[in-house]
Amino acid sequence: MNFNLMKRLCFIAAILPSFLSAQSQTDPLNVDVSQSVAEVQPTMYGIFFEDINFAADGGLYAELVKNRSFEFTLNPSMGWQQPNTNRHSLNKNSGMLNIMKYKEQNTNHNFARVTVKNADGYQLINEGYRGMGIKKDNQYNLYVNMAKQSGDIQKVIFQLIDESDNVIGETSIMPKGDGWKHYKSQMVASETVENAKLKITFAGTGVIDLDMVSMFPEDTWKGREKGLRKDLVQLLDDLNPGFLRFPGGCIVEGRTLERRYQWKKTVGEIENREVLVNRWNTEFMHKFTPDYYQSFGIGFYEYFQLSEDLGAEPLPILSCGIACQYNTGELVPLDELDPYVQDALDLIEFANGDSSTNWGKLRAKMGHPEPFNMKYIGIGNEQWGEVYIERYAIIEKAIKEKYPEIIVVSGSGPSPDGEHFEYGWEELKKLDVAIVDEHYYRSPEWFRSNAARYDDYDRNGPKVFAGEYAAHPKGVGDGPAENNWEGALAEAAFMTGLERNAGVVHLTSYAPLMAHADAYQWAPDMIWFNNLESYGTPNYYVQKLFATNPGTHVLKVTQNDVPLTGQDNLYLSAVKDAHSKELIFKAVNTGNTSQTITINVEGGKLNRKGTVLTLQDNGLETFNTFEAPEKISPVSSEIKIKRNQVKVELPSQSLSVIKLKI
Ligand code: AHR
Repeated sequence: MNFNLMKRLCFIAAILPSFLSAQSQTDPLNVDVSQSVAEVQPTMYGIFFEDINFAADGGLYAELVKNRSFEFTLNPSMGWQQPNTNRHSLNKNSGMLNIMKYKEQNTNHNFARVTVKNADGYQLINEGYRGMGIKKDNQYNLYVNMAKQSGDIQKVIFQLIDESDNVIGETSIMPKGDGWKHYKSQMVASETVENAKLKITFAGTGVIDLDMVSMFPEDTWKGREKGLRKDLVQLLDDLNPGFLRFPGGCIVEGRTLERRYQWKKTVGEIENREVLVNRWNTEFMHKFTPDYYQSFGIGFYEYFQLSEDLGAEPLPILSCGIACQYNTGELVPLDELDPYVQDALDLIEFANGDSSTNWGKLRAKMGHPEPFNMKYIGIGNEQWGEVYIERYAIIEKAIKEKYPEIIVVSGSGPSPDGEHFEYGWEELKKLDVAIVDEHYYRSPEWFRSNAARYDDYDRNGPKVFAGEYAAHPKGVGDGPAENNWEGALAEAAFMTGLERNAGVVHLTSYAPLMAHADAYQWAPDMIWFNNLESYGTPNYYVQKLFATNPGTHVLKVTQNDVPLTGQDNLYLSAVKDAHSKELIFKAVNTGNTSQTITINVEGGKLNRKGTVLTLQDNGLETFNTFEAPEKISPVSSEIKIKRNQVKVELPSQSLSVIKLKI
């Protein structure tokens, strides 16, 4: 039996009991399709990307070698093993590894010096990011800079090895002459291995220097050399995102100002992008990840390029001169804010300036002469208090003076309520800002009871960016189990409120986006992956159902003159799509019995047949896994319409997207 058929049968079996039991019938709902109440912005459903949980290095960025340039500050040889060397028997050693500094001061500080004493006896092994995911018959491209110093190392052999040291791929390079030279070679893997390693053996004896030891699969997103992991970008592309927010999150702020994200250090030649310790390296002592650094292989150019690939508006967020207020809260004095202002102005030039401008020239040189047409820029992440408002105001003013067309995104701090939130909103309103970012990581109960959160927001005030949100179920264990159906269903209920209020809520994004199952710091997350595979959580499918059916105009649907925001455990929003001429309802039943709703449609004639996409599970604790990645995923069915009346069965604990042609 094929998987889809099996899934369909399981779905019918799951919802059958609720059909057989008495189904409750609710009061009818009414909608007039000729009367829209607001437009849905094309940016309504976007994605939030941050290098947390090994989402960039070790994840989206397909580099397989960890610490390729020997720059990890805690230990510059971290990730590199010398299997036949031991520090107590140096004389018997076959060789040694030393970390050296370049004479010239530059952003690539270190290189490795390898001394080989016994021919064929010395090896180096790179362990990858929790191993390397290698696929049978796939090609792997190896890159390395080498400089022979003395003696005669004739050949350097690169081998992929599995967990038992069996060779599953091999290539070799003959280093030539003096001075640094760049080499490239390839190998094809004979096996699929989740935790492979890269072994380097030296033929001959002597001294040789190595730097930027790098390996990528040939098969990357869009086939780009040294590109992004294809399966992960595909999952993002399938979301039809309206925007891509990058590079985070707290990573923007840094624990200290010195360690904040500085976009200028992430563009240009990859080997000159200065490696920086990742902010999530030491953030949680119970999730201590000493090997978490940022190579910036994905830097701002790559983020803009990814936005373009996904058809998403780029939304970069920059530091406002305050380090993370949960950590040091270090502040730049107001009269020293200039470099931060300049960073914002230069970024706009990098993204949008023509190739005769300073920064536009660099973008063109990197391969994109056309502007990226950036429209939004965010200043500050989760900042709060007067210190934020003062700095935000200065940077916003400078941007508006030079680039009045750019929409500046401000923030209201880490909580969706309370003193800081209230103060932030009040002050930002006084500044007449365009958009305010709100963050909420709350219980499923909070999401269910906040579906009407935006119903009373001022339509004439700043717009809302629900920039980071996720329901956090309690007591369900750690990791993927936190992405259970209870949380996802609660988010779906809440999202009907976002959609109903699209007149004020212009951008929304779940957070965080991705997590490596063997290297995460934070859960829940929308997508889980390991070195070989990836899957969307139930939360992912909720996002996907909303984002691939966004509509263009919000419609008013009421039951007894009020919207459905949790009465009888039901939530509902409606949009029409002016392009596809569709009427789309998103209906959520969080209760444990099935319910039938009836919607009377006026103002347009409905086709006789419609489609319903349903996400459902009777177990609130159910979650997707690598073994059953689509356990909770949408199932499609048909409905028949009589006399412009939509009668739909909403199974217990379900999200239904009802699509009708007008
Ligand atoms: O999404 C994870 C973190 O949550 C983000 O970095 C931060 O902005 C928020 O506190």
